[in-house]
Amino acid sequence: MAVVQAPIAHHLLLCATPTKALCCPDPAIGAASWEALKRLVRELALEDPQRPGGIVLRTKADCLRICSEGPILLVWPEGIVYGAVTPERIERILHEHVIGGEPIEAWILRRQPFSPPAAPASGP
Ligand code: FES
Repeated sequence: MAVVQAPIAHHLLLCATPTKALCCPDPAIGAASWEALKRLVRELALEDPQRPGGIVLRTKADCLRICSEGPILLVWPEGIVYGAVTPERIERILHEHVIGGEPIEAWILRRQPFSPPAAPASGP
């Protein structure tokens, strides 16, 4: 039997302490950013299943295929990639983008949205 899960508002993926350290040459900043992301998601009650609009998931990724200007934070569903994140930047991104709905343009490295779903094939 499938478990009913709260709707997901955002999924945040952080490449902070990658194995090959390509995007994030200072592992201390990456580790501090990951700790800040976990703490703030919890403190801001973004994982609360009763949260209007849905919960916020966070995942530590080993590489997000950007590999420079890290630590890299990818925010779905918008597909917005932030570079050079720090604990302070993560706090602002959570407040202004994730909660407030206003991405912080100055820190965006690129946008990589999903392509629209393909139209269903027409019948014979
Ligand atoms: S190593 Fe961080 S994006 Fe590739």
